[in-house]
Amino acid sequence: MKFYELAPEQRRALLISQGIELNKIDDAVLRELDQLSENVVGELRFPVGVVQNVLVNGKKYLVPLATEEPSVVAAANHGAGIFAKSGGVSASSQRQGIYGQIILQVDKSFAEAQLTAAFPALIKQTNDEFASLVKHGGGVKKINLKQVNELVYLKVLVDPAEAMGANKVNSILEFMADKFINFPGITTKLFAILSNYPSQITTAEVKLAVANVGGMAIAKRIALLSEIGQTDPYRAVTNNKGIMNGVDGVLMATGNDTRAVEAACGVWANQSGQYSSFSKWSVKNEQLIGQLTLPLAIGTVGGSINSRPDVQESYRLLGGQITSQELANVIIAIGLANNLAALLAIATTGIQKGHMKLQAKNIVAALDATAAEKEQVRQKMIAEETYTQESAEIYLKEMRENNHASRN
Ligand code: MEV
Repeated sequence: MKFYELAPEQRRALLISQGIELNKIDDAVLRELDQLSENVVGELRFPVGVVQNVLVNGKKYLVPLATEEPSVVAAANHGAGIFAKSGGVSASSQRQGIYGQIILQVDKSFAEAQLTAAFPALIKQTNDEFASLVKHGGGVKKINLKQVNELVYLKVLVDPAEAMGANKVNSILEFMADKFINFPGITTKLFAILSNYPSQITTAEVKLAVANVGGMAIAKRIALLSEIGQTDPYRAVTNNKGIMNGVDGVLMATGNDTRAVEAACGVWANQSGQYSSFSKWSVKNEQLIGQLTLPLAIGTVGGSINSRPDVQESYRLLGGQITSQELANVIIAIGLANNLAALLAIATTGIQKGHMKLQAKNIVAALDATAAEKEQVRQKMIAEETYTQESAEIYLKEMRENNHASRN
C-alpha cells in the first residue's frame, strides 16, 4: 500500500518504526484531521485568543485570533480599545468577486469581436449551469479580453457569494473554457484557473481624538512613521507584517486561506511600482486618522469551514451569523488595530518592552518545570528585564537551589 493509502494510525506506526518520536494524539482527533488533509500523521495546535470590544460600523464584536505570538493578541486588544473610545472603525468591503483566467492560443483567423459578442450567451449558459451559486447571490459577472500576439487572455470576474470561492471558480472556468474549444480561430486552451490577484477590496478608517493616543506629539510621530513607510521598503514590510499579524490570526481562526490573502497582499503593496505600507496615518484637526485597504478574498462558508468544530467555535465567538462582507470588515479592523498598537509602541517606549514581557510566557513554556515554577521564573524575568532561554534556565536552577536550601 502507498503511504497515502494507509490509515493515519498505520502511517504513525510506520514512522515510529523508523525511529521517529511522535507526540500522542487522540484517536478521534487523528481521524477527524485525516478527513481534512493528505498523509496526516499528527496535529499542530494554535492557541485562540480573543480581542474584546472590536467596534466596527457601530457593532461590537468579540474576535478570535489564532496565533502563537502573545503580543499579537495584546496589540489587537490595545488598538481596538483605543478605536472604541473614538467611535470605532468605519469599514466597507466591496465583495465584487474574484478573478479567473482563461488563456487561449489563437491563429490568424481569430476575430476578437466575434468572441466578445459570444460572451453574454456564455455567461448566461454558465450561470444556468451553476444555478445554486446564482441562487446564493453569486455567479459570473463579466469577462474582459486582451490579445497579445497569438495569446488571448480572458479575465473572468466571478462573485462567489459567501464563500472564498476557489474551487467553485475553478469549476466555472473549466466549464467556460471547454465551450471555447470549437470557436473559430482558437487552436488551444492553455489553462483555466482562478487568479489570486487582489480582489474583494476592503477598507477601514478610524478618526481618533489625539488625546486617546497620548497627545499631539505622539500622534504626529505616528504620522511621520507612516510617511516613512510609504517610501522606505525596509520599514514598509515590517509595518505590513504587523498588520498581517492580526489579519492572519483571524483568517486562521475562521478557516480562511491565509496563503491566498498573503499572495494578493504582496501584489497590493507594490501597486505603485514601489513596495509601500498598506496603511496611512495622518493628523488633521486634533484627530489622528488611520486608513487601511487590503484585498481580502475570504469566505464564511465552504472549504473546511463548515466541517471543523474549532473553526465553528470561532464563528460562535463572532456572534454566530456573520456575512463574508461583515467578516472582512472585522478582519481589516483588527489589522488596523495591530498597526496602531505597533506604531504607538515604536513612537513611545519602543517595541521590546511590552513584546518581551509577553514573550516570557513562550520562553518559560520550554522549561522542564512545574506550572508554579514556570510562573515564578516568568515573574523573575519580568522583574530583571532579561528574556533569554539561558537566563530562564539559570533562574529555575537558582530557585530550586534556594528552595532546597530553605528546606534543609
Ligand atoms: C512584530 O510582530 C510586528 C511589528 O514589528 C510591526 C511594526 O513594526 O509595525 C511590531
